[in-house]
Amino acid sequence: MASRLPDGFDLDANERLSRAELDALQLRRMKASLAAAYAGNPAYRRAFDKTGVTPDDLRAFADLARFPFTAKADLRAAYPFGFFAVPMERVARVHASSGTTGQPTVVGYTADDIATWAGLVARSIKAAGGAPGMKVHVAYGYGLFTGGLGAHYGAEALGCTVIPMSGGQTAKQVQLIQDFQPDIIMVTPSYMLALLDEFLARGIDPTSTSLSIGIFGAEPWTEGMRAEVETAFAIKAVDIYGLSEVMGPGVASEYAATQDGPTIWEDHFYPEIIDPETGEPLPDGEEGELVFTSLTKQAMPVVRYRTRDLARLLPGTTGPMRRMTKIAARTDDMLIVRGVNLFPSQIEEQILKCPNLAPHYLIEVSRPDRLDEVTVRVETRPGCGEGEAQASAAALCEHVKVHIGLSVRVDLCGEGVLGRSAGKAVRVKDLRPRG
Ligand code: DLL
Repeated sequence: MASRLPDGFDLDANERLSRAELDALQLRRMKASLAAAYAGNPAYRRAFDKTGVTPDDLRAFADLARFPFTAKADLRAAYPFGFFAVPMERVARVHASSGTTGQPTVVGYTADDIATWAGLVARSIKAAGGAPGMKVHVAYGYGLFTGGLGAHYGAEALGCTVIPMSGGQTAKQVQLIQDFQPDIIMVTPSYMLALLDEFLARGIDPTSTSLSIGIFGAEPWTEGMRAEVETAFAIKAVDIYGLSEVMGPGVASEYAATQDGPTIWEDHFYPEIIDPETGEPLPDGEEGELVFTSLTKQAMPVVRYRTRDLARLLPGTTGPMRRMTKIAARTDDMLIVRGVNLFPSQIEEQILKCPNLAPHYLIEVSRPDRLDEVTVRVETRPGCGEGEAQASAAALCEHVKVHIGLSVRVDLCGEGVLGRSAGKAVRVKDLRPRG
């Protein structure tokens, strides 16, 4: 089967450019994109005018630092469509982020944007080892969330057969994987673990399925989790990254051949790393907040969008495009507990060192008196005896103390007690009084 990519979209050509050619392409596209944002959108025009820059001020990449950042709060303030830069008749689709803290953020796409997005997800699936003719089971949610439809259009564009399952209905997911025999699954890593439980509950050996590739993203997951799902299902697991404000899944994705962090599709998105406190750009290799400027988006170009995701930029290994480290944390996920900075993924890393503990966990922070207390609620693995469980709990406390520098309580739970999310997992319950 041939691919069904849009006319003129060459899946691979830009992956083969030299760095100098890629730089030239990026700079040309960046100039055009800034000009389109300025001309087409009053919010950008106001922000540029206030900072005293015009698109003509961009002559080299270093000039980008003179342009204002765009933050989630800016998009919220312009709810719903105030960041669109084309007339509404040209907007073919909208998506929205879930907005756990109030108003959702709405994003828009022209028909060309949807074609570009599909092309980049197709490239991501190909990088994962996918090929035309394979069957792709999509278990990311369909709807306003970008996961389901983003994966769907990309898989179709590559020439795959799509199974648009969406999230939830765990028993049915397992049944359809058995019946339809997909090669690839696209799903959040935490929901993949819920599917694993269901396979085991039915007495089906998860390594016996037709799946050979898992493309996981939408939430942080550790190398320990990668090892867990790769072994449990006998698949290759790769990391796909993205966010709705910048496009959706497929802003960056990992090559199965190297599994060394997502490659940023730099022909369409220009990355920067900044110090989250000062906003100063940091050199490649240093950890900070990831910021993206879109280079080709029409309906909603983003200029220096602050993702709140923490990462480092690394040189490309498969081509000229740079990689990002796997996202371990978001600036707003960081818990400060008795002065120690704590990210949920650090706890996950320690849990996965304990063979009798399952990577189903919830971190509860409370303040019974004046001091913060952290309780790690974690499930034991099926078949684990009382003595082994207690020993694992003690080992987890010790690992957390040694590696993170924090004393925690461990609350062991039986299998399935913590509940499962069909999309992004909730890892933290902060019970401390506000303010
Ligand atoms: O989660 C888009 C997506 C769907 C990506 C499916 C990958 C797969 P949002 O709902 O806007 O969009 O959430 C974006 O999710 O800023 C990160 O904090 C987090 N995130 C996304 N991918 C990864 C990943 C989608 N691979 C937010 N690793 C981002 C860690 C991720 N965090």
